[in-house]
Amino acid sequence: MKFFVDTADTAAIRDLHELGMVDGVTTNPSLIHKSGRDIKEVIKEIAEMVEGPVSAETVATDADGMIAEGLELKKLGENIAIKVPLTWDGLKACKKLSGDGHMVNVTLCFSANQALLAAKAGATFISPFIGRLDDINLDGMDLIADIREIYDNYGFETQILAASIRSANHMTEAAKIGADVATAPPDVIRKMAAHPLTDKGLEGFLKDWAATGQSIL
Ligand code: E4P
Repeated sequence: MKFFVDTADTAAIRDLHELGMVDGVTTNPSLIHKSGRDIKEVIKEIAEMVEGPVSAETVATDADGMIAEGLELKKLGENIAIKVPLTWDGLKACKKLSGDGHMVNVTLCFSANQALLAAKAGATFISPFIGRLDDINLDGMDLIADIREIYDNYGFETQILAASIRSANHMTEAAKIGADVATAPPDVIRKMAAHPLTDKGLEGFLKDWAATGQSIL
């Protein structure tokens, strides 16, 4: 499973990138707002830092507007994936942009039918939002499983990009189901390394080591 980082915080991306944990980046208007930076400036900086796809989201609500904004965002780097919402106009924009050879990430997906439409419109990535479904007492992982089954049934090449990930458990579940990509906030990726038995074990080893009075260097 590829790891995308869901943030516009360039310092956090750089930190994970140095560890080889960043296969791509996703952003959205809320994350740009949180960064406090100009969208073009920050997306360009991320696209230069990371080799993989960097999703930059359009904000127009009509297909022509999304296409125009998408092409403008695409100027920021060859690796830009144009992000459009899963609306009828978003599907139209997806069809046109993907047909012209651009990577398209169709976002705000909350049903298997929406994912099926996005694949037929040529989406490079479909972004089902797990956490926001969990928030309303539905099981976001069921949606990932349904989309995996449907895409596999018909050989769709659209990649399932599990989004709105809120916990390290979400990462495990998405990987078990076979999501192609998971995009997670930097702190969730860091939490994947944490285990209380690791901490306890290390504490014990260090205590016993100190008692030997030895040093390695
Ligand atoms: C994905 O592309 C979105 O930017 C993101 O995962 C949304 O997550 P949220 O529901 O935590 O805002």
